[in-house]
Amino acid sequence: MSIEELLCLGNKVVHKDTSKLLLGTILGINPLELNLHLHDIVEKELVDKYQECLKRLEDGEPIQYALKNVNFYGLDFYVDERVLIPRFETEELVFNTNYYINKYFDFKAKVLDLGTGSGCIGLTLKNLNKNLDVTLSDISKKSLEVARLNAGNLHLDVNIIESDLFSNINSKFDVIISNPPYVAFDDEISEIVLRNEPKTALFAGNDGLEYYEKILAKCENYLSSKFMVSFEIGCNQKEKVLEIINKYLKDVKVICKKDMSGRDRMIFIFKNVLITE
Ligand SMILES: C[S@@+](CC[C@H](N)C(=O)[O-])C[C@H]1O[C@@H](n2cnc3c(N)ncnc32)[C@H](O)[C@@H]1O
Repeated sequence: MSIEELLCLGNKVVHKDTSKLLLGTILGINPLELNLHLHDIVEKELVDKYQECLKRLEDGEPIQYALKNVNFYGLDFYVDERVLIPRFETEELVFNTNYYINKYFDFKAKVLDLGTGSGCIGLTLKNLNKNLDVTLSDISKKSLEVARLNAGNLHLDVNIIESDLFSNINSKFDVIISNPPYVAFDDEISEIVLRNEPKTALFAGNDGLEYYEKILAKCENYLSSKFMVSFEIGCNQKEKVLEIINKYLKDVKVICKKDMSGRDRMIFIFKNVLITE
């Protein structure tokens, strides 16, 4: 079949931009350039893969799971239903954290990615700074299988620990970064997320604040005297998380940042760091 025929087939099932994205990704061609190849013939194996993915999309699966791939910060990550699909706003968390690590910490700093899921945060930081000593941890054995696969695919040497928050963490870090579950049980979330993504990656008690409280209550036991904690937060959680920080941490400097859509989405906590922004 030709690219043009495959796109027509896809357009009957999903939006035309989605069929272009799907076919482009499968063929390794920029979706915007598919129009230059409309009469190219696609080999059967790839046609079969495209049709299988279309069927999955028709059945309500997210495109990233259908393709078993997501691009995060320019890197290809394997994803499936064992892990949360990495989000754009998390790229912003990584961008800012990387900036602060480079500005204020040693190039060999120890970094803990708590609740690593696919490994996207910790592996991206390691890829940006090969000398960092990065540990990925998660309560979910299945997530860690995916994180390990991604570490291997990306040729990144990191430590991987199965741990319920700090339960199996036995050392101290300069930086803890976390995008914990923060959706309140009564928050409305889209059907496609609810039906497909792991519940343990999404929901948290206490109005979505459970993990911030649990992490902040104990984190100083696992941090060096000079440290940074980076959090992704839900867009209405800034004030509540600031209260929790005040409850547990003394003499810290806190920076809140908005994402590209202007929503409060990131909090950075520093201790014994002379901040010049
Ligand atoms: C919102 S997801 C973030 C995944 C990934 N870091 C990302 O940003 O795409 C939260 C992650 O925290 C993990 N998690 C949930 N409860 C945990 C716990 N008690 N201890 C450690 N990890 C936990 C989940 O398995 C999930 O992978």
